[in-house]
Amino acid sequence: MGISALIAKDNLPKHVAIIMDGNGRWAKEKGKFRVFGHQNGVLAVRDTVEGAVELGIQYLTLYAFSTENWNRPQLEVNALMELLVSTITKETKTLMDNEVRLNAIGDLDSLPKNCHQELKEAMAKTSQNKRCTLTLALSYSSRWELTQAAKHIAELVKAGKLDPQDIDENLISKQLNTADLPDPELMIRTSGELRISNFLLWQLAYAELYFTPKLWPDFRREDLFEAILDYQKRERRFGMTSEQLK
Ligand code: IPE
Ligand code: IPE
Ligand code: MG
Repeated sequence: MGISALIAKDNLPKHVAIIMDGNGRWAKEKGKFRVFGHQNGVLAVRDTVEGAVELGIQYLTLYAFSTENWNRPQLEVNALMELLVSTITKETKTLMDNEVRLNAIGDLDSLPKNCHQELKEAMAKTSQNKRCTLTLALSYSSRWELTQAAKHIAELVKAGKLDPQDIDENLISKQLNTADLPDPELMIRTSGELRISNFLLWQLAYAELYFTPKLWPDFRREDLFEAILDYQKRERRFGMTSEQLK
């Protein structure tokens, strides 16, 4: 019996977010260049997306490139951008076959033109798919996103279109790149690092966090299933007492 059979289908997280970390170390362990790790990370992405679809996860968000990752050596940044373009081109068919809608968050205008173009085309092509929304966080950081939101809210107030008294949590959520997505119930990070690295700080307020030492290129759907099984064993209290939840 596969591990997915143990998962309660009536208690699935609607939205799973993943920090895909450890590509560089994976390559180094094999005596290869870091780029080799990124290339093999693509296989992990494909299997994870298919596993999520198979299970019935409606939203999957993958941290693919952070604002801070621009500070990496130029050669690595270039390789990552090229890999992104070629992957999106190659994988659009897999997305269509699995009825996955491609979405992106982050400062997309900062991406190389061909990258942004390829992304827009794949998003348009898959826009009618209803089974799962796959969001790539690209040139994304949560502080950048929150700063953008603060600026926009200030503009609305300045223009007399918004009363500061009407600013509430819902309004702030609607100003974020993730306005159309529910908050993730589960956040997974690979490679053993125990940190959030500027990812979805607002949205993860009540997410369950799951950390695995596995390096991203070794991650497969079974690892996703294991994380979800672990999630299902937890009691999500949202500030209340255990008794209140009974
Ligand atoms: C994650 O793997 C991929 C990106 C951040 C783009 P890393 O490249 O961070 O791999 P490590 O953490 O150095 O092993
Ligand atoms: C987080 O990984 C960003 C992505 C996975 C895209 P990093 O490897 O950049 O994070 P730090 O630098 O270890 O915190
Ligand atoms: Mg890393």
